[in-house]
Amino acid sequence: MSITKESELIGMKKVSEAVAFTLKKMCNYAQPGMTTQQLDDYGAKLLSDFGANSAPFKTYKFPGWTCISVNHEFCHGIPSYNRTLKEGDLINIDVSAELDGFWSDNGNSFVLGADINQHQKLVDASKQILYKAINNIKGGVRISDIGHLIETEAKKRGYKVIKNLTGHGVGRSLHEEPSEIANYKDRSNLKRFKKNSVVAIETFITTKSTYAETLNDGWTMVGNNGGFMAQHEHTIVVTEGKPIILTEMNEIWN
Ligand code: CO
Ligand code: CO
Repeated sequence: MSITKESELIGMKKVSEAVAFTLKKMCNYAQPGMTTQQLDDYGAKLLSDFGANSAPFKTYKFPGWTCISVNHEFCHGIPSYNRTLKEGDLINIDVSAELDGFWSDNGNSFVLGADINQHQKLVDASKQILYKAINNIKGGVRISDIGHLIETEAKKRGYKVIKNLTGHGVGRSLHEEPSEIANYKDRSNLKRFKKNSVVAIETFITTKSTYAETLNDGWTMVGNNGGFMAQHEHTIVVTEGKPIILTEMNEIWN
């Protein structure tokens, strides 16, 4: 969406606060021995307290309030009583919601407890790359140039990017124009970021894979070549200078 009046900015701030607060609390709540269903139930309660609805459920009938993906699962993991978290797991939680007709999206990959499986380096790379990408976005910048920046920064650190997962416009629905903000230089995408537009910028930084494939459950995505992925996501408003980071209070950069 494009912000055209104050009330729209207020609406976007409210829903963004709900998803950012929920994401932060869920990440802090996660403990070894807990199931991903317990973690999702906790997130569902937090979102409900804001009066917010799960965006993936509302949009796609996703079987959960939030997406929780563990280790080799890259994204869209279904909360389950059969999945128990362990020390050292690489966990991704993606929280997106609708509140009063406004939609916001954010995500965080993190290591649970001690980094016994050496995932922290990948996590830090993804966070740094998101920071750099967002700080280079302003009205008029080519979307493909940000993709180029993300891929270049990933390669510099010895990582790859996923080609078939992208950031996206957001605001009046979960996924809207510009529909593809890729993590590589997509030469066919001539679009530019527009001032006052709301977009979700997300990294998909990997150790081995370049494509994500859907498992037989119809939701969970894994890598075409295995390995691990870190994703960090903020919803922002594009300006003429530095973007307004609507989901800043998720504290993924702290
Ligand atoms: Co998103
Ligand atoms: Co998301």
